[in-house]
Amino acid sequence: MDISELYRLAERGRSRRKPFRIRCCMAAGCQSSGAIAVKQVLADALSAAGLNDKVELCSVGCLRFCGHGPMIATDPDEALYERVTPENACSILGALNGESSMAPRCDGNQPFFADQLPIVLENSGQIDPSRIEDYIAVGGYESLYQVLYDLTPAETVAAITQSGLRGRGGGGYPTGLKWSTVAKMSGDQKYVICNADEGDPGAFMDRSVLESDPHRVLEGMAISGYAIGASHGFIYVRAEYPLAIQRLQKAIQQAKRYGLLGSQIFDAGFDFKIDIRIGAGAFVCGEETALIHSIEGRRGNPRPRPPYPAESGLWGCPTLINNVETFANITPIIRNGPDWFRNIGTAGSAGTKVFALTGKVQNTGLIEVPMGTTLRRIVEAMGGGVTEGRVKAVQTGGPSGGCIPAQFFDTPVDYESLQKLGTIMGSGGMIVMDDNTSMVEIAQFYMEFCREESCGKCVPCRAGTVQLHELLSKIVNHQATVVDLEHLEALCQMVQEMSLCGLGQSAPNPVLSTLRYFRDEYLARLKPSMLEEVGHHVR
Ligand SMILES: Cc1cc2nc3c(=O)[nH]c(=O)nc-3n(C[C@H](O)[C@H](O)[C@H](O)COP(=O)(O)O)c2cc1C
Ligand code: SF4
Repeated sequence: MDISELYRLAERGRSRRKPFRIRCCMAAGCQSSGAIAVKQVLADALSAAGLNDKVELCSVGCLRFCGHGPMIATDPDEALYERVTPENACSILGALNGESSMAPRCDGNQPFFADQLPIVLENSGQIDPSRIEDYIAVGGYESLYQVLYDLTPAETVAAITQSGLRGRGGGGYPTGLKWSTVAKMSGDQKYVICNADEGDPGAFMDRSVLESDPHRVLEGMAISGYAIGASHGFIYVRAEYPLAIQRLQKAIQQAKRYGLLGSQIFDAGFDFKIDIRIGAGAFVCGEETALIHSIEGRRGNPRPRPPYPAESGLWGCPTLINNVETFANITPIIRNGPDWFRNIGTAGSAGTKVFALTGKVQNTGLIEVPMGTTLRRIVEAMGGGVTEGRVKAVQTGGPSGGCIPAQFFDTPVDYESLQKLGTIMGSGGMIVMDDNTSMVEIAQFYMEFCREESCGKCVPCRAGTVQLHELLSKIVNHQATVVDLEHLEALCQMVQEMSLCGLGQSAPNPVLSTLRYFRDEYLARLKPSMLEEVGHHVR
């Protein structure tokens, strides 16, 4: 493959497009609500009407309004249809022809979409993720060519540093700094790992990116391989994501066939191959050292850091590990330049963030917004507010994060602001809670999750999460005393400070943040005989 061939393929892909297109979301969410049957009805109807030459029926990735699936979009009018059923699907054909119809039209200009800035999701819902030709037609693999021929590895690292991109896996570590650390390490063998473990309850951003635009992640990984001097990459993805795995496997095969992965990519003296490793779904295997052990075929237990994977990672070699969304940002940064990216978002948190907006909110689905968008804009405007009652809080960061009460909804979403409120950005799960939600039960739920997912290697986490869960259950069941509450807080601090890895260190966060903002709910759940004493404490 050379660049003229890539351009030729891109041109051919674009010119083959038919004037009318019906794009059916075939991501896991819409498939589970009946998208396959809907698409079949449309395929039969197009054949029966002899419209196959004129109308293209295609499978695309996520159209983002997941709670309203199955979703369909049409071109050239860019109309959007929601909750399409086999019964009403054919009315879309009439609408495409300009006839007034009863098609289940969805307002594409509503705030859920209007405030979004799709960069990571720019191809999501636009291209068929199972066709590399579709990805090439929208400029796919041109950024890889650009770095191989126009930039040195050091210049590639510098571009990522200059962009201000920070890791989207939760911690927000500067991506360029991580790349430069691995690039500086000596040794012939280095590795790239894409962390697609995504174990937070309520999170499905990474799954959606892989299902909707897998080549984008492969291209980002290949660019990173060139930048740091690695020729081998792994994608670690959980077994619960069969569609993502299937699309990745196909994408890797296609890229190899076109010479876009493998040896001598673009004849530029650069080799890069990617293998998939499937995880069994343990949350702790998302932690980078546990993940590395799991790829090595060992038990997925974390180990102390340093050494960090950048110095000693997979099989003791320098290893770059980044999240799916981090890799998905690389191609647009190279294509549009680091300054373009840096000017989006806030000074400290550049770019956009993809969130899985779920919980008691009207509009659930995937959103991609510039960093700095306020929680109010996200929850009330884009999410449409809660389904019942009043919005009480939003949870970010999953089991490692915390709950932000509604009075702080004017806070801009960026790494530092969320941290000040006692939570973290996390990988992008955002769960909205209404005033019927018990915050003590929320804390209990996350602690149960951490107790189950603790690998048991260190005592503070193994025993601490059990004891914290017992104390929370006592409170939930009105059996706890004030002393138990004090014990709960002291134990949270001990587990935070003494645990070996991020799972234990952050497990107390949901408890501490709910105690900080919703202490009254804890006090109200104490033993009835304690209430008088508690009243004293509250005063
Ligand atoms: C318990 C635990 C689970 C984690 N799970 C994930 C995960 O599913 N995906 C992810 O990218 N990072 C996860 N991380 C963070 C990774 O250890 C690592 O920091 C991240 O993959 C680095 O990528 P980034 O720099 O692109 O954010 C987890 C960390 C901990 C402590
Ligand atoms: S903190 Fe928990 S998950 Fe991490 S090593 Fe210790 S026991 Fe395992």
